[in-house]
Parts: sequence; structure tokens; C-alpha cells
Amino acid sequence: MAKILAGKRIIFGVTGSIAAFKVAGWVSHLAKEEALVSVIMTESAQRFIAPLTFAALSGEKVYGAMFADDMSEPMAHIDLAQAASLLVIAPASAQTIARLAHGMADDLLSTTVLATRAPIIVCPAMNSKMYLHQATQENITKLRNFGYIVVDPDSGMMACKDDGPGRLVEWDSAQEIILRCLSDKPFLGKKILITAGPTREAIDPARFLSNRSSGKMGYALARAAYRGGADVTLVSGPTTLECPYGVERIEVETAEEMYSTVMEKSREASIIIKSAAVSDFRPTEIHTQKVKKDNIKTSLELQANPDILFELGQQADRNDKILVGFAAESANIEKEARKKLTRKNLDFIAVNNIKEEGSGFGVDTNKITLIDAEDTIHLPHTSKEETARLILESVATILKNKTR
Ligand code: CTP
Repeated sequence: MAKILAGKRIIFGVTGSIAAFKVAGWVSHLAKEEALVSVIMTESAQRFIAPLTFAALSGEKVYGAMFADDMSEPMAHIDLAQAASLLVIAPASAQTIARLAHGMADDLLSTTVLATRAPIIVCPAMNSKMYLHQATQENITKLRNFGYIVVDPDSGMMACKDDGPGRLVEWDSAQEIILRCLSDKPFLGKKILITAGPTREAIDPARFLSNRSSGKMGYALARAAYRGGADVTLVSGPTTLECPYGVERIEVETAEEMYSTVMEKSREASIIIKSAAVSDFRPTEIHTQKVKKDNIKTSLELQANPDILFELGQQADRNDKILVGFAAESANIEKEARKKLTRKNLDFIAVNNIKEEGSGFGVDTNKITLIDAEDTIHLPHTSKEETARLILESVATILKNKTR
């Protein structure tokens, strides 16, 4: 991950909920990413978890009382509010949400909220009946109208044995929201369509043709696009990966399903990145019953699948869009990629040498070369996360030049 959090001052408000112990881990993650974390605890939060835990994990002073004994900081709420790049309140209890909705200023956290102009993320955690109560729901609507980002809690079995919405959101999701808040957003208001993973072409109910794509590169692109402010649709072939937070995922199986979904979704997208490894062929016949081995022929008759990327490159509105393709090559890398760039009418193509170690299918790293009509840029051998960020940096440059 690029060091989005490094050096950023995050005010972290902890309030009175049993989930307070979970955010000790969040503070630890933020500190490891070199964020500067100032924790403010409400009085009831301090009944659930000791301030010392947060002081040890953040390596910083933990704030509690509104009127500190320490006269060196008489205006802590103003100083903290001004220094903040972001304010996160997690877990946010029903009580704190109600106080914030009414603009109360009777403790250090609520005064800091009023005094800051940094983005505010609120992560509710409470019993599901309390969460679903009209009072809490109206208070949450108010906070959203103030411009605060209120994160929907997860659903499931709670500490009080009730089952429903109200569990503190998981760190993986919270992290994505925090990263989006603190990232540059070149894609704000833009719809980005990304394809990922392999396709599967059935032979019979048990067998299929496919390839080694894991989908990791496309999913990393979806995460990076979300962080960059985009409205992201991910059309994914079969993978074992979780849908990235904030991304609309449409799951498909065959190249033909991917074709029809992409064609429909492409109408509203201004940026399309085709990282899926689409099967170029499918069996001419799909058997409805499993073929017994005594009856299996030794050759399989195939027919071509539609080339989705090629079709996108021929659309009437092609010039209103940015179109990025991928290529996996094992020889004459640059020459082969250039042929595809021209034939498919792309803005640029991201190519990797699948024979190179640590590059391409299944692994967590990649070594990509970006090729457009004029240039060849060799990206470093790095994580797929970082590769995704660098690819989107190139897309953002094209977008900037287009809208200039
Ligand atoms: N692609 C597509 N539809 C297909 C095949 C490929 O949209 N039916 C897209 C892929 O998502 C990728 C690019 O086209 O962005 C890959 O180009 P392609 O020519 O298919 O590459 P290879 O399959 O590697 O081709 P070849 O086997 O000829 O090298």
C-alpha cells in the first residue's frame, strides 16, 4: 500500500460500547501505517477499555476529560480539531450518535467534532433494537445530512445474543473508507468498469475449460479505483476473492455472460479496464448430462467467443471513454502487446511476461509494462496493490488531459 496514511493526523473517538476492545486493533493498524493517532475516549468508553491500551498502541497521549488537569493544553478540542486530517468515531454508541445529531458540546469528543472541518467517519455499534429504533435512525440521517460518513454496521449475533444489524463493521471495510477519505480523488463522480478473473466454458455439468487467472489484479484495481473516488462496477468471473468494500460486483461465469454484462454496463462507464482473462473459445456443444469416459472423444470442437475488448474499441462512443486492456505474453512481449493496442483501439495496454517469476497468474506481485501509442513504461516488480495504484495513476493522467 502506498503510504497514504503516513504522517496524517487522525483523531480517533472511542465511545461506550462493548466493541471498544475491537478498535484497539484498528488503532494498532493505523499506527503501523505511520498515521499519527490521537485517541479521545468518552467517560463510558473508559469503563470498557483502559486508556493505557490506546496510549501503548498509538504511542501518543490519550485524551479523556474536557477540562484537563494539564494546563499546557487548555484548548485541546480546538488544537485537535485543527490538526486533524480525519476524525473517526468507532465504536459510536447510540448515546454519542444522539449527542452529535443535536450538536451537543458537553465533552471533548463532541466539542472536537463541532470544531473540526476534517471529514468525519462514524461507525455505529450497538444492540440491533437500539440501532433500528426510529430515534437512532433519525439521528443517523441527521449526521449524514451534516456530511458525516456513517458506515452501516454488520449484521449477526451480538454480544447480548440478539441477532441483527449493529455489529461494528470489520476493519477491512473501515480501512477502505479511511483510505478513500485520505486519498486524492481523481475519479470522483466517474463510473469505472473493471473486469477480473477467468471465465469458465462448460463441457458438461462436471467439466469446463478455464485458465489460471485468480482475479487478484482486477480486484486490486477495483479497490484502488474506489479509493480514488470512483463509482466502481466489477464484473468478475469465478474467484475465491471477497468483494472489495464499496464496489458493486456482478458475478458471471462464461465469456458470453461477461460480454453481455460488460456491454450493458459500459454505456454509463467513462473508464473501462479489462483485466479479466477471457476464454477465447468455448466448446461448440455443452452436454446436458455428464459425459461418460467411454464416450469421450479425444478432441473437443471449439468455437470463438466474442472479443469483448475489441467490441468496446469499435463502439460509436469510443472517444468519450478511456479503454485499458491487459495482455499476458510469453515471447516478443512489447511487439505482441503493441499489435493488441492498435487492433483493439486502446488508450493503453498493461502487459506482463507470464514466464517471469513473481509476475502474472495467482501470485500477489506483478511486473507490468504499460504501452501506449508513444511510450513504454516499465513498472517496478511490486505488489498487485501498488501495480493497481500505478495503472490508475496513468488513467488519471489521461483523464486530466481529456477534460482539460
Ligand atoms: N479480452 C476480451 N475478450 C476476449 C478475449 C480477451 O475482452 N474474448 C480482453 C482481455 O480482458 C484482455 C485482452 O483482451 O484485456 C487480452 O487480449 P487477447 O488478445 O485475448 O490476449 P490473449 O488471450 O493473451 O491473446 P493471444 O492468446 O492471442 O495472445
